[in-house]
Amino acid sequence: MAASTLSPSTTSQLCSSKNGMFSSSQASMLKPARTQLGRKEKGMKIACQATSIPADRVPDMGKRELLNLILLGALSLPTAGMLVPYATFFVPPGSGAGSGGTVAKDAIGNDVVASEWLKTHGPGDRTLTQGLKGDPTYLVVENDRTLATYGINAVCTHLGCVVPWNTAEKKFICPCHGSQYNNQGMVVRGPAPLSLALAHADIDDGKVVFVPWVETDFRTGEAPWWA
Ligand code: FES
Repeated sequence: MAASTLSPSTTSQLCSSKNGMFSSSQASMLKPARTQLGRKEKGMKIACQATSIPADRVPDMGKRELLNLILLGALSLPTAGMLVPYATFFVPPGSGAGSGGTVAKDAIGNDVVASEWLKTHGPGDRTLTQGLKGDPTYLVVENDRTLATYGINAVCTHLGCVVPWNTAEKKFICPCHGSQYNNQGMVVRGPAPLSLALAHADIDDGKVVFVPWVETDFRTGEAPWWA
């Protein structure tokens, strides 16, 4: 609320303003007129009230909701664009088999094709590939030049070093603390407490596919500790 002393002309000006719109900014514009008033005009008091913007100039609720939806849509698209790649980062790569297995990858990341692999890997060969969950996994070539139906996880069951294959000894010998595993990955000397984990090595569409091994460990006759 504000009270001012104004001339008649100023009054009509004020009335027309009240009928239309009258804002605090207009009120401040009228202030200099007060200094030019004569004595007779002094004392004429007009109550001025700053009114809000007329209803026909305020967006109704429907328009506000529409604007909110447009804003939400504009923000959602780039946000989703950032979140999707972030989420897929946590999905293990290499899943290509329909059975829930993982296509084996060679040292440079190519899919292992069984026939091609056997051209360059002879009987008794044990070469590392990328297996389930990206674990280093040995692909085994049997003496009859076929691929074994199992792969051997190369992660030592002691403290997790990758265990190399020793061709001369025909054993896996851990360089960290000396644990030893036979040619099928069964522990034969500690401190490793358990045999190396197994995975099925299937052939699907010519490619080697590792599938989780949940059956009895054929080397020990016991349930698989890793399943
Ligand atoms: S990590 Fe292999 S023996 Fe310790």
